[in-house]
Amino acid sequence: MSTRPGGQAAPPGPAVQAGEEVTLTITQLAPSGLGLGQRSEVCFLVPFALPGEEVVAGVERVSRARHRRRSGQPRPATPRWEATARVVSIVKSSPDRAVPACRHFGSCGGCAWQHQAYRAQLERKRALVRSALLQVLREATVPPDLVEPVIPSLAEWHYRNKLELTFSPGGRPGFHRRGSFKSLIEVEECHLATPEMVKAARVVGDWAVAHGLPGYDKAKNQGFLRHLVVRQAYHTEELMVALETFPPSVLRSREPGDPGEAGSGQATAGGDDEGQSTLPFAGDLVERLRACLPQLTSLLWLSNPSPSDVVKVEGSRLQVLYGREFIEERLAGLTFRLELPTFFQTNTRQAETLLYLAREALAADARPTDLLFDLYCGVGTFGLALARGLRLVVGIELVESAVAAASANAARNGIDNVVFLAGEVRRVFDQAVARFGPPDLILLDPPRAGAGSKVIRRLGRAEPRRIVYVSCNPHSLAADLAELLPAGYHITRVQPVDLFPHTDHVETVVTLTRSH
Ligand SMILES: C[S@@+](CC[C@H](N)C(=O)[O-])C[C@H]1O[C@@H](n2cnc3c(N)ncnc32)[C@H](O)[C@@H]1O
Repeated sequence: MSTRPGGQAAPPGPAVQAGEEVTLTITQLAPSGLGLGQRSEVCFLVPFALPGEEVVAGVERVSRARHRRRSGQPRPATPRWEATARVVSIVKSSPDRAVPACRHFGSCGGCAWQHQAYRAQLERKRALVRSALLQVLREATVPPDLVEPVIPSLAEWHYRNKLELTFSPGGRPGFHRRGSFKSLIEVEECHLATPEMVKAARVVGDWAVAHGLPGYDKAKNQGFLRHLVVRQAYHTEELMVALETFPPSVLRSREPGDPGEAGSGQATAGGDDEGQSTLPFAGDLVERLRACLPQLTSLLWLSNPSPSDVVKVEGSRLQVLYGREFIEERLAGLTFRLELPTFFQTNTRQAETLLYLAREALAADARPTDLLFDLYCGVGTFGLALARGLRLVVGIELVESAVAAASANAARNGIDNVVFLAGEVRRVFDQAVARFGPPDLILLDPPRAGAGSKVIRRLGRAEPRRIVYVSCNPHSLAADLAELLPAGYHITRVQPVDLFPHTDHVETVVTLTRSH
């Protein structure tokens, strides 16, 4: 052991160094496809190694362990060091190992679990929900069979109805590289999206490259093309392609004859503000997309001057270049209008499974006089599907355009016993109770952060007979349940549903009944 000046012993360093190779047994799976293994005081984080596998791992970096919770997964012990490593070779392979379908797997940030058989993914998701609940609830509240086996996705591949891509400086849309917001992988294939969505992304990339339209280069703070959103409805097959750019004036510094100056192939947007309202070569884009995608229903152009990194409709100029501003999707026999910013469950057929589960959970105890609150209602998906047979549904949603869409969806489907209110649930809940009375039933489907104490306390005080909690994050779900149960509720069912095969995401529907 080395000594410091003054004779004091320096603490021992890590037992491994970057560049070394070690043979390891993987004991756990952490989020993002990280396999965890431990040797003496070092925890190894090895992407795409599976529990039970013995691997030779090449150490890339060693640092002091941060002891952060990786979505609550406990580490094998309390290691002092953390080593990131890559699989050099697999000595003993797991029976769960599968051959990834996608050539981008491993480098693309999109999916992390393609290397596991689907059956194993489902088992792990069930265990993940149970372990999240056990972190905050007593064991007696979470008996081994409380969490049901995960309902598999009806489609294991091509289930996504929406892709949001970022343009590379070269002008092709791509996915973020794993672990990086700066670096992109240009889309050659994606097995989660529909073939039409992938084709649309390729056609837009070919169009941009053919006309020399540059993607935004963050490092140089220059470029024109920003994001591409592609959306396809499962039942109607209608396709939306939305291109987000900076205003065309950013191209003006280019040579005469370049896209910012040229008129060839441009759509006639009819604007007069010095070319701000004309997408260069829009006519050619329409032609290219229509030639190979008969499903194209909506081609939109969003000109966004703000430097924000996300697709932003507010404050941007939206133009319809072809078709209409929305596509339509059907869900559980109802028709929904999906505009560019509309939140909609990403896996349409599994969204139907969620609706059926919610209906089943409430129907067991629903009466024609009942009032249902649909909290975090989005465009009204749950409330509208559940309204029949109830006196009234009151939906609460933060985003005003979603509230307007929910009301339009109600009218479109001839449902008149629903009211949608805009605002934060924690602020609007009490007003809704004052106006319509306390709810008999509540369905809540909050964002990943969960509902939080302020909302949960209000739910408890309102004393609904039954609560259905739809969650996309087992950890925030567990925290909310821990507060809700003492308010007089018990869990009658915990049903995970897989909406996102080949990723570590899981949706859970929990039914709670009032005990006293
Ligand atoms: C997981 S989505 C569920 C949407 C809807 N239930 C559905 O299935 O389409 C969560 C919704 O909560 C909304 N939201 C987020 N924070 C909110 C808040 N504090 N109050 C009300 N709504 C909120 C989001 O805009 C989003 O529409």
